[in-house]
Amino acid sequence: MVASKKIGFVGGGNMGEALIKGLLSSGRLQADQIRVSDVRQDRLRFLQDTYQVLTVPDNAELTREVDVIVIAVKPQQMADVVADISGNLEHLPLLISIAAGVPLAIIERGIGEPVPVVRVMPNTPALVLAGVSAIAGGTHANEDHLAIVRLLFEAVGQVVEVNEANMDAVTGLSGSGPAYVLLFIEALMDAGVLTGLSRQVARELAVHTTLGAAKLLAEGDAHPAALKDQITSPGGTTIHGLAVLERAGMRGMVMEAVAAATQRSMELGKK
Ligand SMILES: NC(=O)c1ccc[n+]([C@@H]2O[C@H](COP(=O)([O-])OP(=O)(O)OC[C@H]3O[C@@H](n4cnc5c(N)ncnc54)[C@H](OP(=O)(O)O)[C@@H]3O)[C@@H](O)[C@H]2O)c1
Repeated sequence: MVASKKIGFVGGGNMGEALIKGLLSSGRLQADQIRVSDVRQDRLRFLQDTYQVLTVPDNAELTREVDVIVIAVKPQQMADVVADISGNLEHLPLLISIAAGVPLAIIERGIGEPVPVVRVMPNTPALVLAGVSAIAGGTHANEDHLAIVRLLFEAVGQVVEVNEANMDAVTGLSGSGPAYVLLFIEALMDAGVLTGLSRQVARELAVHTTLGAAKLLAEGDAHPAALKDQITSPGGTTIHGLAVLERAGMRGMVMEAVAAATQRSMELGKK
């Protein structure tokens, strides 16, 4: 489905590079199928040298050359990019935007042509091919377009399809989520140091405990509570630790954190 397509990235920063790296290492695309444009010449040189992808001097030229365009610039840079690519879309390429908080309707209005647009919210573990991305199709995007987007983003992790109305909640959970989990891991590490472990050993234990617990969940369909119950023996160590977390209101705090981030995403989207 993407074997014969040319994919263009407008913006070759962190996310653009993560996607290029993932697509090449998955074997789904060859380097000569990928084009990148960026205002930074140093980024273009780096991407060309590292991944042997083709670089294009400007966004309009890139738009004319490709079948799929991934807009991977900051939300505040979107208006410039939309202006650059508008007027170069006669061949109706598929447009993918990963800009956080920018609604499909704004992009479609800016483009002004019946181009299929899909909005994607990836997260930073995409950098190590362990991301999770939510996708939502715009007015002119059909099942074939969504299937292409799935193929592309599965190269850097998992993909779920949502209604665009849920994108703020996605941002609050999986977009911001790596930061919550990192904070928890840091707390585990400090706790290890407090109880006498070296920082290096505490880090190793905290990181792999988190990875392992997530893997237990990801590789089966057990409820987290069922897995937790398996390691919680009567009067044992784990239930004593859990009782402290419950008294401190950990579940409520996590829910409030996700709700606050979701609310903030809604506010930013209105600007
Ligand atoms: N990083 C994440 O975790 C993450 C997660 C989910 C979604 N996203 C979304 O992904 C998008 C990209 O994020 P990022 O972290 O990859 O940003 P980034 O590292 O700043 O990459 C964007 C690149 O595009 C360049 N650029 C700016 N204006 C341009 C223009 N008019 N034409 C072509 N290139 C232009 C930037 O150059 P300058 O540096 O000179 O501006 C930079 O090299 C954002 O919209 C963000 O909301 C990111």
